[in-house]
Amino acid sequence: MKISVFGCGYLGAVHAASMASIGHDVVGVDVDAAKIASLSEGRPPFFEPGFDEILQAGLDSGRLTFSTDAADAADAEVHFIAVGTPQSADGSADLRYVNAAVDAVLPHLAEGALIVGKSTVPVGTAAELAPRIDAAGGRLAWNPEFLREGFAVQDTLTPDRLVYGVAAGDDAAAAKLDELYADVLSHGMPRIVTDLATAELVKVAANAFLATKISFINSMAEIAEGVGADVTQLADAIGHDARIGRRFLNAGVGFGGGCLPKDIRAFQARATELGYGDSVAFLGEVDRINLRRRDRVVDLASEMLGGVEGRRIAVLGLAFKPDSDDVRDSPALDIASRLREAGALVTATDPHAIETARRVRPELDFRPDTDDALAGADLVILLTEWREYRDLDPETVAGLVSGTRVIDGRNVLDGAAYRAAGWEYRALGRG
Ligand code: UDX
Repeated sequence: MKISVFGCGYLGAVHAASMASIGHDVVGVDVDAAKIASLSEGRPPFFEPGFDEILQAGLDSGRLTFSTDAADAADAEVHFIAVGTPQSADGSADLRYVNAAVDAVLPHLAEGALIVGKSTVPVGTAAELAPRIDAAGGRLAWNPEFLREGFAVQDTLTPDRLVYGVAAGDDAAAAKLDELYADVLSHGMPRIVTDLATAELVKVAANAFLATKISFINSMAEIAEGVGADVTQLADAIGHDARIGRRFLNAGVGFGGGCLPKDIRAFQARATELGYGDSVAFLGEVDRINLRRRDRVVDLASEMLGGVEGRRIAVLGLAFKPDSDDVRDSPALDIASRLREAGALVTATDPHAIETARRVRPELDFRPDTDDALAGADLVILLTEWREYRDLDPETVAGLVSGTRVIDGRNVLDGAAYRAAGWEYRALGRG
C-alpha cells in the first residue's frame, strides 16, 4: 500500500521505516530539509537501536523515500500525521504542527484517502479536524502510538495493542487499517476499534497512569528515606501482587522525556478547559513529586560534600533514559545544570547524549570518556542507568576519584559492593 507519514521525528521516522519494512511504499514528509536530507542518505538524525538497519533496508529496497514536498504524498491511500505536539507556555499542547500537516496534505488528498492521526493530542482535536477533511473528500481516523524510545522499532512492529479511533459507522477506515497492519496483527495482538475521542484519551490516559505509577513509588521513596526503609525491596514486595505489577515501579530521579511530563500537563490543561480539572488534579501532585526528586539529589550532594561550591562532581548519564540520546526534560541534564549553577565543577558524560545535551546546555563541561569524567571527582552521581555505568567496578573507580562518595540516582548499583570498596553509597529511597 502507498502511504505517507507527515513528521519525521522519532515517531514518524520510525513509523515510516517500519511500515516500509513490512512491504508498504512509504514517503516520509517533513518541513525540516536537513532532517529529510539526513534520512534520505541513511543517516538517522537521532539514536535509536535497530532504526539504522530498517532505514537503510527501506532506502535500498526503494520502498522508502523522504521529501519536503507534500505533493510527493499525493497518491497515498493513507496519510499518517506524526508531528510533535510540544508543550505551550501554559502547559497545554501546541497543535500548530498538527494543523500545518493537515493543511499540507489536504490539497493533495485523493478521493476517499484516509488521514490517520498518530500524534498525542487533546481529546476533541479529531472532531475539530474532521469537517475540513470530509470537505476535501477524505476521512479521518486516530491510531495512537505507544512506542517507547529505545524500543521504538519493536514497539511499532509488535505493539502490545493497536487502537483505531474511527468516526461512527466508518467500517471502511478500520478495514483499511487492518489491511495496512496485516503483518503486525498476524502476531496476534489485541486490536481495539473505538470512537475518535476514546482513541485520543487512551493515549493520554496510558501516559498519565505510567507517570502516576512512577510518582507513587517515588513518594514511597521520600518516606523510605526518612524512616530508614528500602524502596526497592518495597517495590519488589508490592510488585509481586499481579494487580500492582513490578514494572514502572523503579524509584529514582523520576520521569522525563518528550512524552510523560508534557502529556500529563497537557491533559490537565485540556480537562480544566472542559470543566473536568478536578478529575485530573492528582496529576499536578504527580508532577510535583517527580520534580522534587531532582531537588533531593541536589540537596543530597550538598549534604554529602558539606556544600557543592568548588567541588568536583562527576555526572554519569544525561539522556532521560538509557538507549536514547534524548535530553528533553531529562532529570539528569537538569540536575547536572543545577549543580553547576550552585557552583560545583561538574564533569558530565553519556554514551550517546553529549551532542544533544551540548545543544541545550553548552556551558556544561562534557567528557566523552567515562574515566575522564570520573577523574578527581569528590562525588559521583549516576543519573541515567546505562549498562556501562551499572557495570562499573567500584574498586577501579575508587582509584580514579578524589572522594569515594556516590549517589545512585536510579537504584541500580550494588550498594553493598560499593560500601565494601570503601564508598559512601547513598541512593534515592534507601535510608
Ligand atoms: C513513554 C511511554 O512509555 C510510551 O508508551 C509513550 O508512547 C511515550 O512515553 P518514553 O518517553 O520513551 O515512553 O519512556 P519510558 O520508558 O516510558 O520512560 C519515561 C521516563 O520514566 C524515563 O525518564 C524513565 O527513566 C522513567 N522511569 C520509567 C522511571 O523513573 N521509573 C520507572 O520505573 C520507569
